[in-house]
This record gives sequence, C-alpha cells and structure tokens, in this order.
Amino acid sequence: MTGVLTTPDLLPVVRTRPELRAALLGAESVGLVPTMGYLHTGHATLIEQARRENEVVVVSVFVNPLQFGAGEDLSRYPRDLERDRAVALAAGADLIFHPDANHMYPAGFASSVDVGDVAQALEGASRPGHFGGVATVVMKLLNMVGAGGRPADRAYFGEKDWQQLMVVRQMVRDLNHPTQIVGVPTVRLGEGAAAGLALSSRNSYLNPAHLARAAVLSRALRAVQAAYTSGETGVPALLQAGHRVLESESELTLDYLTLVDEHLQPVESLTAAPAGAEQAVSTSEQPQWPS
Ligand code: PAJ
Repeated sequence: MTGVLTTPDLLPVVRTRPELRAALLGAESVGLVPTMGYLHTGHATLIEQARRENEVVVVSVFVNPLQFGAGEDLSRYPRDLERDRAVALAAGADLIFHPDANHMYPAGFASSVDVGDVAQALEGASRPGHFGGVATVVMKLLNMVGAGGRPADRAYFGEKDWQQLMVVRQMVRDLNHPTQIVGVPTVRLGEGAAAGLALSSRNSYLNPAHLARAAVLSRALRAVQAAYTSGETGVPALLQAGHRVLESESELTLDYLTLVDEHLQPVESLTAAPAGAEQAVSTSEQPQWPS
C-alpha cells in the first residue's frame, strides 16, 4: 500500500477519496465492510470473512447522519476510533476509511437512492427515511472504496439487519451495480444473563440488568421457532408464542413482531418442517425502555 502515513501496530486510517485511491492503487480485489464504528465481535466476523476472500480489506467507519431520524441518537451514537483500529486490525483489516460528513455530503449534495417497497415495511415503517439514508451511503461507499477506478469487489453485511441486507441487494440488482453483496450470520452473546442477545454497538447504552432484559427479544424468536419445530404451523399461534415471551417484560414497547419469508413478504400459511424452505422471524432488535 502507498500514500498512507501509519504507525507500526496501528491500522492506517484515511479520510478522503484521494487518500483511499492512493492506498488501494494496484489492489487485485477489495473487500469493504461498511460500519458506523464502535466495533464488536459481530463486525469482526464480517472483517474476518472479507479477509479470507479479498486481497485488501477496508473497514469504513462513518456515523451516517442521513439514516438517523429527528430525535434519534445521532449525537450520542458511541464512537471510539482508537479502539476500532485495534479491533479491525486484530480481525485482519488493512485500512480504515473514516470520512467527515462534509466529505461524504459536501455543500450542494442532493441525490438519494430509493429502493421502493422493501424499504417501507417493518423497520422502515418504524423509522421513516432510515433505509433511504442507508442505501444512499452504501451506494457511495461501494463506489468510493475500490481499486483502479472500480467499485469495491465485495461488500459484507450482517444478517442481524436482515432488512438492510435485502435493501442493499435490491439496490445493486436494480441498478446493475457490480459489487458482490455477501451476507454474514448474526453473532449473539453466548453465555450469561443476556445469552442470545445479538451484539450491537447500541448495546453500550444498556447496563447489565437492561442487557439481560433485552435478551427477551431473542428468547421470543426462539419460542416461535420452538413452537414451529414442535409442529405448530398456524401463523397466529406461532406469533402468540413470541408475544407470550415478550409480555414477560412489562416495560418493553414492541415496534413489531411479524412472520415473514426471506424476502420480507408476510407468511400466511406454513407447512410442517418444509425441506429447503426458509422462514425468518423478524422483530426490531433494539429494545426501547422508558427513560
Ligand atoms: P453498523 O450497525 O455499525 O453495522 C455494520 C455491519 O455489521 C452491518 O452490516 C451489520 O448488520 C453488521 N452487524 C452488526 N452487528 C452484528 C452482529 N451481531 N452479527 C453480525 N453482523 C452484525 O449497519 C450499519 O452499521 C449501517 O447501517 C451501515 C450499513 C454501515 C450504513 O451506514
């Protein structure tokens, strides 16, 4: 790599497109892991997979203002670039791209990417405008983080944010974008009072007691799955199994619990243990506690 100032044992950080272009000069393949930082083991699994599949691995760290609604947590979203450098380095990254908001959205910036219906349901209904902001920044990042004038060769997204993954896949398919989109399974806490909770940078808002209570989300998903594998195929009864678990947390405000297929289409009927058919249960992974 050229054109990047670096300290031994610290991952290089570049902040602009020209620095990025210089750093990626001549790379045969570039894998991009887009993040908003405050990296954890979930992000690390994406980076590790990118490491196995690309010559150069770039992690972008950018808290994207476009995807936060009014009154959301943009200003207090957790940030720690030095820690991110250590986590990304240990997972096998070569470079962090950490642009300023002004570099991503200079004065006069006006375009946006609208991916249609897939962005409107579920999380999109709870957070209007969110997926438009995600699609727009991801399109920019795919185009910016590549070698020799090409977009990134591959980009890695977590299945934890299944709807986000579907939005990005729809976008690259519809717009003939050449980057290959790779989905990576969800990493959850394996033990302790909060076992099963999906890792998330926003978990840092929660104290240990709240973390344990937030694990009600994954317990509810598992209850639906258990009801299904033990023979229940009625959608209302399956959802009821989830609601029973969620109701054990009296202070939880549920955005939605719904049974959808992998394309986020509502499931109306199920057959018992279908060979090869995939059903996904989706619920907002962000618990909301009264403040
Ligand atoms: P962020 O929440 O930082 O997540 C970055 C990537 O890591 C996403 O693809 C997300 O699905 C994945 N990820 C997070 N927690 C995970 C877990 N527990 N297991 C597996 N993967 C996990 O998602 C975003 O940032 C932003 O919306 C972004 C795509 C960067 C656009 O701004």
